[in-house]
Amino acid sequence: MIKICCIGAGYVGGPTMAVIAQKMPALTVTIVDLNAERIAAWNSEVLPIYEPGLYEIVKASRGKNLFFSTDVKNTIIEADIIFVAVNTPTKNYGIGLGKAADTRYIESVARIIAEVSTGNKIIVEKSTVPVKTAETLKEILTSNNHGAEFQVLSNPEFLAEGTAIQDLINPDRVLIGGDPTPEGKKAIETLAAIYAHWIPREKILTTNLWSSELSKLVANAFLAQRISSINSISALCEKTGADIDEVANAIGKDTRIGSKFLKASIGFGGSCFQKDILNLIYLCEYYALPEVARYWAKVVEMNNWQKQRFSHQIVRTLFSTVANKRIAVYGFAFKKDTNDTRESAAIDVCRSLIEECAEVVIYDPKVTQFQIMECLAQGIGKNGRVQVESCPYHAALQSHAILVLTEWEQFKALDFNRIYNSMQRPAFVFDGRNTLNITELCSIGFRAFGIGKS
Ligand code: NAD
Ligand code: UGA
Repeated sequence: MIKICCIGAGYVGGPTMAVIAQKMPALTVTIVDLNAERIAAWNSEVLPIYEPGLYEIVKASRGKNLFFSTDVKNTIIEADIIFVAVNTPTKNYGIGLGKAADTRYIESVARIIAEVSTGNKIIVEKSTVPVKTAETLKEILTSNNHGAEFQVLSNPEFLAEGTAIQDLINPDRVLIGGDPTPEGKKAIETLAAIYAHWIPREKILTTNLWSSELSKLVANAFLAQRISSINSISALCEKTGADIDEVANAIGKDTRIGSKFLKASIGFGGSCFQKDILNLIYLCEYYALPEVARYWAKVVEMNNWQKQRFSHQIVRTLFSTVANKRIAVYGFAFKKDTNDTRESAAIDVCRSLIEECAEVVIYDPKVTQFQIMECLAQGIGKNGRVQVESCPYHAALQSHAILVLTEWEQFKALDFNRIYNSMQRPAFVFDGRNTLNITELCSIGFRAFGIGKS
């Protein structure tokens, strides 16, 4: 029986392995992490991450063929296939500061595998890594002196948070990169055979290692580029009376353009888009391609500008001062259906209002008060007053404005008449996600603004 180990019990490791365990009851899947608190949560009734459908899948396999453990070394020793799903954040020190990926976690995993392995193993890069990382892994792994041999594969993950389970069950493609040697091809086939249990063979693409590693960065860069493109046009819509949703709909009907990922917003957030584009920019600079680096840098620049533009519009509209004004914030996660707040645009917007001495009252259906306060700790400083409310109606009470920063479905069902009646006059709504019906809000009495709406 094949034994799988996954190192890193995060947003990727947890859901990915839960789905493999569900689809292949004959495999044993153990997810390990150094973070004991996280592992305890995976073994409890309240999982460390919120993802629709995840709890049910974990519950069905946990203790049968799906295990969560802190025993990293023994799980590695026993495994045939090791997935590496540790974090690869942007470096916040030294060479490549603010751009390069910090690969220290992935390297430390390779060192542990090299140190303890006694039998042959397939090592699978699940984390998003700079192109050529597999070369480093191979070099470290060959330092093993117990006679173990390794095949390194690249198998980047394309799931999006909030839809992780459906993305894993029915992906657009699975990408596996490996060496073109007989051993490399055999390893690719072993991994492909696992996915083939529920994914059609024609969706399983195999490439060389470098194409696979690079494709992951490029996929994220292209997706983020579409958001920056539509957001740049949202600013022009606000000046001209064109409506961004109408423009997106009209251009998206062209099948060469396509309708997805054209939703104007206060900017993309999440742990990966910005990190991966910055990594791509760093790689281009490293390989002496400054024109390419500058091209992709604009995608991040536009995203930052969009977030700032939104905050400035709020202050300007509220008569150029928000000092001591109560501002209700609906949604703090970086998108709906997740409790993840990493790089959420809400953090930047809240920080800039705190800086302007506003009283910010935040409601999010899934993000805890502790997490919100931790995200804003840096921005609170001397000016700030931040409150977290567990009820959207309480958050709105006596407020001057509401900001919709995450497109949670439940916001559409709120009683906005009741909300309007509990607010100060004039009452404003700024919909950063174009989630609510602006015309309806205006008909109640709100002064309502949406991204790309004049
Ligand atoms: P995460 O921070 O949620 O999880 C990573 C986990 O790895 C953490 O729990 C950490 O404690 C653990 N870890 C770090 N070093 C370790 C070590 N030496 N031994 C054991 N555990 C260790 O990160 P994530 O969001 O799951 O992302 C993981 C990787 O997948 C990143 O490279 C990311 O770019 C990529 N990715 C993420 C997503 C996503 O939606 N979040 C999607 C596709 C790809
Ligand atoms: C993204 C990619 O979609 C995944 O394919 C990839 O695997 C993942 O990054 C990763 O590598 O981490 P994720 O960040 O979880 O997934 O979520 P997205 O749905 O891509 O949304 C990212 C951000 O873009 C969110 O803030 C969202 O609100 C914003 N967005 C998305 C828009 O502003 N407009 C859109 O049209 C789509």
